[in-house]
Amino acid sequence: MNTQHERISILGLGAMGHALASALLEAGREVTVWNRTPGKAGELVARGARDALSVEEAIEAGDLTVACLLDDASVRDTLAPVARQLTDETIVNLTSGSVRQARELAGWLKESGARFLAGGIMAVPPTVGTEGAFILYSGARDVFDRIAPVLGPIGLPHWAGEDPGFAALYDMAALSGMYGMGAGADHAVALVHAEGGNVETFKREVLRPWMEQMLAITVDGADVSESVPDEYNPAMQATGLENILSASGEAGVPADLAGHLRASLWRMRRAVAAG
Ligand SMILES: NC(=O)c1ccc[n+]([C@@H]2O[C@H](COP(=O)([O-])OP(=O)(O)OC[C@H]3O[C@@H](n4cnc5c(N)ncnc54)[C@H](OP(=O)(O)O)[C@@H]3O)[C@@H](O)[C@H]2O)c1
Repeated sequence: MNTQHERISILGLGAMGHALASALLEAGREVTVWNRTPGKAGELVARGARDALSVEEAIEAGDLTVACLLDDASVRDTLAPVARQLTDETIVNLTSGSVRQARELAGWLKESGARFLAGGIMAVPPTVGTEGAFILYSGARDVFDRIAPVLGPIGLPHWAGEDPGFAALYDMAALSGMYGMGAGADHAVALVHAEGGNVETFKREVLRPWMEQMLAITVDGADVSESVPDEYNPAMQATGLENILSASGEAGVPADLAGHLRASLWRMRRAVAAG
């Protein structure tokens, strides 16, 4: 089938689902959208999208269906009632989740007779469809080969392997790297703030250029082994790390990066609880 003419249905019009639909419409694709809470498709409909009244209608309207919902449970909630309609349908799940969830969803959809691809979106809504955005996919290679050009406008398709869990694996691992970087930046800013430095100037003039300079070295140097290569000069690195711990102690800032991750989690949870 001609890539340009494949009809795409999007389940979920949160910030990300909306951005996906928008990028596909922009590329001239035929798009149908569905959202649990009605009334979110207005601007997309004005640009040519069809607003489906039910999940059944959305799946029926598309040659392939993309789910972009909150979590694994919401995907199950949405697809379980229409399980019998899924035979021979192509389902691409771009909802974030765990490796196990992706594998189990793949198993369940296979039993339902659907063709399935799991995915992970390496973009945020404003960067969907822009240069640098890429999408991880894993599952059946023939399904990937077919849908990659169709969904190309949302981000560069990246094949992560036949194991349906691998898109989630790479997604979560990459996010872990990102949050770790964020935890490091939070710690750096906390140190500067605690000692009376100007946080904004520090971020702009020191932290950002430094992290940009060190990004490739940090990623290339990531390792699971306990040993440290000689060229890393372990003695010098040990002294550097001791200095960071001393500076943190003097400033009264806990130098526990995992603690920063937990603090971020609690901050997000407090925001959710506050509505
Ligand atoms: N936003 C990002 O920066 C980003 C980046 C990469 C990946 N992602 C992933 O993309 C997915 C969607 O994120 P988002 O930013 O669009 O989230 P969001 O704005 O919170 O939207 C969540 C969507 O899920 C729907 N939903 C929630 N529970 C549901 C249920 N039980 N049944 C059916 N629909 C349900 C919501 O419908 P209602 O409108 O009815 O509530 C809404 O359409 C997530 O898995 C997220 O991890 C997001």
